[in-house]
Amino acid sequence: MGERIFIGVAWPYANGPLHLGHIAGAYLPADIFVRYHRIKGNEVLMVSGSDMHGTPITLRAEEEGKKPSEVANRYHQQFLESWQKLGIIFDLFTNTETVNHRAVSQDIFLTLLNKGYIYKATMSQPFCPKCRRFLPDRYLEGTCPYCQSPSARGDQCDMCGKPLNTVELIKPHCRTCGTPPQFKDSEHFFLKLTAFTDRLLSWVKQQTHWRPNVLNFTLSFLKEGLKDRAITRDIEWGISVPLPGYEGKRLYVWFEAVIGYLSASREWAKSSGDETKWRPFWQGDGVKSYYFIGKDNIPFHTIIWPAMLMGYGDLKLPYDVPANEFLTIEGKKLSTSRNWAVWVLDYLERYDPDALRYLLSINMSETSDTDFSWRELIRRNNDELVATYGNLVHRALTFAYRNFDGCVPPAGALDTQSRALLGQAEAIFKTVDELLYGCHFREAIRSALSLAQETNRYLDAQSPWKVIKTDRPKAATALYVVIGVVSQLKTMLYPFLPFSSQKLHEYLGFTGPVEDFGWESHLPVPGQKLVLPQPLFTKLEETLAEIETSRLG
Ligand code: MF3
Ligand code: ZN
Repeated sequence: MGERIFIGVAWPYANGPLHLGHIAGAYLPADIFVRYHRIKGNEVLMVSGSDMHGTPITLRAEEEGKKPSEVANRYHQQFLESWQKLGIIFDLFTNTETVNHRAVSQDIFLTLLNKGYIYKATMSQPFCPKCRRFLPDRYLEGTCPYCQSPSARGDQCDMCGKPLNTVELIKPHCRTCGTPPQFKDSEHFFLKLTAFTDRLLSWVKQQTHWRPNVLNFTLSFLKEGLKDRAITRDIEWGISVPLPGYEGKRLYVWFEAVIGYLSASREWAKSSGDETKWRPFWQGDGVKSYYFIGKDNIPFHTIIWPAMLMGYGDLKLPYDVPANEFLTIEGKKLSTSRNWAVWVLDYLERYDPDALRYLLSINMSETSDTDFSWRELIRRNNDELVATYGNLVHRALTFAYRNFDGCVPPAGALDTQSRALLGQAEAIFKTVDELLYGCHFREAIRSALSLAQETNRYLDAQSPWKVIKTDRPKAATALYVVIGVVSQLKTMLYPFLPFSSQKLHEYLGFTGPVEDFGWESHLPVPGQKLVLPQPLFTKLEETLAEIETSRLG
């Protein structure tokens, strides 16, 4: 009996195109993980969607002189295109403007209200006397009360990652005009986080399998003491409060966006024709829920969403929140406003998805920030994908094809070296399995690459192109061994490099999707028809590094 896994991936704000920071932070690791579980034959559900609400969208719409819905829909379409081209496969990628999401969000709001976990209180709201309006969270800037960073926003400090209430900001000022705000009273709904401190603390303390950065951040945050949070705002764009008398207010974007994980699961079930299909992923015994997010989203997934789930009841808490650290670009902090970013669709216009997936995997920021540079992309593409893995595949398959009637050669008796390589391949297959299971993606792909290196050494030592002249069975055996290992490599690299694994699968003479063959080291049988291969990867000119880097900034 397989496992049941729910995978939630952070909902990107639909206010701009996707860049490598998004991909490295959440979408690629989630996709590697879901492909791994699918090929293992486990039952998985992976959902996400566009975050259509909040000030990131309204700010953008104001800049463009468009309606928020127009901006959000445009980027939602772009996201779908990016997933398709990059090979990120969701069971459902929806958005927060659906009727279903509104209904589920309002149900959670009302249930928490009825249970006493949401209450009404007066909040003083920043009002800019010069712009003459209430300032949504991100329109307000000031000094962080925790780390003293001078550029904290009204909802969160980017420096230390702590969520903030607007009134906590020191020396607040309007982001548009710099004027200090006046505070005016307005009635709002508050989520009673203080009611969950003890339950959260004892739950979090048991999560010893969490990454240290996630666990430590969450524990220190809890120990400082939670504050109740306002979950409504005086704005027009967003989900309305389902009570009479609150027509001018909307649910706060973070409160409803996290509910997307649940609403998307229900939408997926509905569209599958079985409305109850979401239940095993949220209420079933033994289901494990993983949330793939960037580190700036940690408290929302380890504290606020779990508190909402506890309050609502009968829904599974996260099993793991494997948040990644940040990706820098050419040694500098990524910044969309300064165009210090590599845009996904722009990259894909010129280069292959697998080359990018490879680099971001082998340098994944699992334990500390890592850097993306074009020089490194080109180097690793040329030295590792082309020269090590691609060349191994190409040498073995073309030689076998040309000398053994286009078929997998027959295996004779195995010498010590051959037995050693096959043994090592089995061991690495198991290691990669365990590493992927534990979300250690960087180590997993490094292990797989080390097997490709080892196999190249074996092929050089065996030199079937020489040996074939004097000892045809020995040459056949060596090729048989290499083709077997290559077939295993295709399986273990499939979660990382889905496009090239599928091609290789076909060159090896298999038909149908790699995924259907399962996580098995099924060796091709002697006599199996091969397909004359094309090179799996393309070499990149070193001069491209300079051209590409000059596009930044
Ligand atoms: N839109 C938020 C961001 O980009 C992330 C939301 S994740 C969710 O930072 F869980 F709240 F949906
Ligand atoms: Zn701070």
